[in-house]
Formats: sequence, structure tokens, C-alpha cells
Amino acid sequence: MADLSTNCAGIRSPNPFWLASAPPANSGDQIKRAFDAGWGGAVWKTLGTPIQNVSSRFGAINWKGSSGVGFNNIELITDRPLDVNFREIADVKKNYPDHAVIVSLMVETKEEWKEIIQRSIDAGADGLELNFGCPHGMCERGMGSAVGQEPTVNERITSWAKEYSTIPVLVKLTPNVGDIVPHGLAAQAGGADGVSLINTIKSIIGVDLDSLVPRPVVGNKSSNGGYCGAAVRPIALHMCAALARDPGFNVPISGIGGITNWQDAAEFMLLGSSSVQVCTEVMLHGYRIVEDMIEGLSDWMDDKGFETLDDFVGKSIPAYSDWGNLDLNFESIAKIDPASCIGCNKCMVACHDGAHQCIHPNEQGLHVPVIDEDECVGCNLCQIVCPVPGCITMEEVDNGFDPASWNQHLGEGKELRHKKGSH
Ligand SMILES: Cc1cc2nc3c(=O)[nH]c(=O)nc-3n(C[C@H](O)[C@H](O)[C@H](O)COP(=O)(O)O)c2cc1C
Ligand code: SF4
Ligand code: SF4
Repeated sequence: MADLSTNCAGIRSPNPFWLASAPPANSGDQIKRAFDAGWGGAVWKTLGTPIQNVSSRFGAINWKGSSGVGFNNIELITDRPLDVNFREIADVKKNYPDHAVIVSLMVETKEEWKEIIQRSIDAGADGLELNFGCPHGMCERGMGSAVGQEPTVNERITSWAKEYSTIPVLVKLTPNVGDIVPHGLAAQAGGADGVSLINTIKSIIGVDLDSLVPRPVVGNKSSNGGYCGAAVRPIALHMCAALARDPGFNVPISGIGGITNWQDAAEFMLLGSSSVQVCTEVMLHGYRIVEDMIEGLSDWMDDKGFETLDDFVGKSIPAYSDWGNLDLNFESIAKIDPASCIGCNKCMVACHDGAHQCIHPNEQGLHVPVIDEDECVGCNLCQIVCPVPGCITMEEVDNGFDPASWNQHLGEGKELRHKKGSH
């Protein structure tokens, strides 16, 4: 059976599944229950000067029967006294010595960083996570994403933390930037042992059409919040991969953002994450989701012949390339399996209105639409809309042209449509 034990930036845990710093990791009792359910680690709800929260504070996008496909919050950091938090951290560590307890921190001055880091170490934390990512409320006070958006400030505060910390330091990055790479490099330059990403995306989740007040409603007002949940996963995956493939970036990544199951976790790991963190999916379905995550990842690793996480972390990075390196002559076309087609015509409508007008009614009166293969550009849209899994497949065709990319065309003057074997 696959070995799921994890070492992310020097922080060890029995498996790569950590609770992200958020309501599911708000207190000792919760984290103990999470560890009992199978979570390998937890990043404690961010500690700093305790704040007062607003009510209400969450909003969600419910999409065709699925609630919380996208999730939004205007919650701040811990609202519980620091003494209580540190007492509970010490208690959790005493009872779960092999699990990872990472303490998320957000304070302002150098003195405050020194003090809160020492208290975290004294409580027995295995690592620290500097919250440079919160995009609401705390950034208005000069913390959170206000730090994460400024590489020089990020680097300076990271270096303070490294000066005072004897345990590994992760820097949690904000996605509210144009390019994540300089921000990851700034954390690395400050001495970070690793980075975690992403925190939430600045957002307004919607507007109440009765009261005309944006959501979530606080009296007769609202505010922009942080977006997370399954909907943000593609953004998070890209940011993770952008850092992992950067030649100058060489510290571990803890991947976060829209992870709902073992497949999502495996994707983050293939794109460079040594551990993964989950918030929204736990808020929606509880700690027990980790059971399927552990079993699924383990079975998949066995199937693939991966014995340890190191066997596949970052393995998809070489296949993530700039568009200019893609083979412009690679061609695939859609094929319909007549045996599984139910004749719903969704593919035909999609291709006619949203693609290349090359799926037509069956002239023999059969229920299976017909693809004009000469006109098909292999865009995938019909496969995406088809309700029957496996009914439409995309198949590679040999069009007789040599592989050629735009960059080869620009750099070497390579002819774009060059027939194989011709001169
Ligand atoms: C209600 C709520 C509160 C959060 N509080 C914190 C926090 O205190 N510190 C922090 O670093 N991130 C916080 N986050 C962000 C999460 O840790 C995580 O980065 C983000 O939600 C993306 O992961 P997900 O898609 O699995 O939810 C919070 C998220 C939510 C939804
Ligand atoms: S792959 Fe695109 S172009 Fe080809 S049949 Fe499907 S929708 Fe039409
Ligand atoms: S969408 Fe799928 S099931 Fe429906 S007609 Fe097209 S191929 Fe058949």
C-alpha cells in the first residue's frame, strides 16, 4: 500500500491532507475531531489581536442543486483570546504528537511578530503560516493581502519571522495579484521554507434582489469578501503550477483552493504541491470527507505504481508549457458512440451555436447526430455538453503535417503546414 506520509517544508504529517486556516480549524476540540477522522495536519485559524466579526458573514453560489460551488466570506481572523488558543494548541500537540499543527499568524509590528512567534513555538507548533492573503477587513488595517501584494513588504516580514522562528515558516500568498511568481520569489528571498496558496479571491458574491443590498447582508450594507470553494480551483492550480515551474523558485508548496476530493488533491500535487489544504468542502460536508480522500489517493497511487508522494509531486509540470510551444498541427476530432447516444441533440445545438456548425441531424432518420469530420476543429465543446459519459470521444487524427509550434516558426522559421516527408 502507498506511503502517504508527508514532509512539506520540514513539516511532517501522516498524510498530505491538512485543514486550511479557517472555521474548521478554529479550536482544539475541532482539530482533535478532525485528526480522529483522518486529517494529517491542520493550520490553526489565524491568530493575531482578536477581532470582532460581523453577522452575517458567508455567501454562496448554489448551482443547479449543488450548494456552495463558489463560497464567499467576510470573516476576519480569530475572535477568541490568544491565551485560550495557545492553551488548546499545546493540548492538541500533546495528544497528537505525529500530526502537523501549523499556526497561522497575522500581526503588524516587528515586536508583535516576535512575541506571537515565540508563543506559537512554546505551545509546540510544528510550523508557522504567515497570513499575507486575507483580502477583506484585515488588508484595510495594513495586514493580510496588503502585505501579500507588496513583494518588498512580504520579503521584509518573512525575514522577521525567519529571524525569530526555530520552526518552518510557510508564507500564505494572496491570489489578488496579476502574476503570482514575484510574490512567491519574495517570500523565498525572505527565507520562507515554503509557500501556501491560494488564500481567497476578492469578490462580491451577489446582490439580494429584494433589498437590493449585496450579499452577505450586514444590516443594510455588505462588503467585498473572499471567494473560495470548487469554483476557484482552476485559478489556484494555475498559480501553484506557475510557481512550481519557475526556474528560480525552489521551495515546497502547500496547495489550497477548491479541493473537494482525492482527484483534486492529486492534481495539485502533480502540479507541484507537497501537501494540500481544504476549507470550504469541510465547511459544507464535515471532516469525514478525508476518509475518501485518503483511500482514493492511496488506491490511485497503487494503480500508478507510485510508492511515495515524492514519486509524483510536480510530475505534470514538464507538460505545462507556454501556448507558443504547442504543436499547431496536432489534430483531434469528435466521434459519437452510436450505442450510447440517447439522441438528446445537445451536442448539435452546442456545435451549431457555440462552435463550428459541423454536427448535423441524421439524414437516415436515426437518433444519432452526424459529425462532419472534415469541418470538426476538435474544440471539445460537444464532449463537454454530452450528458452520457464516454459517448463522445476526442480522437487523434494524422493529418500528414510535421509537428510545428508558433515559437519554432518565429525562432527557427519553421514552416507551419509542412507535409511529412516533403522538402
Ligand atoms: C469562512 C472562511 C474563513 C477563513 N479564514 C481564514 C483565516 O483566518 N486565515 C487564512 O489564512 N485563511 C482563511 N480562509 C481562507 C482558507 O484558508 C483558504 O485559503 C480558502 O478558503 C481556499 O480554500 P477552499 O477553496 O478549500 O476553501 C478562510 C476561508 C473561509 C471560507
Ligand atoms: S469538437 Fe467542436 S467542432 Fe468538433 S463536432 Fe464537437 S463541437 Fe463541433
Ligand atoms: S449530446 Fe451525446 S447523447 Fe446527446 S445526441 Fe449528442 S452524442 Fe448523443
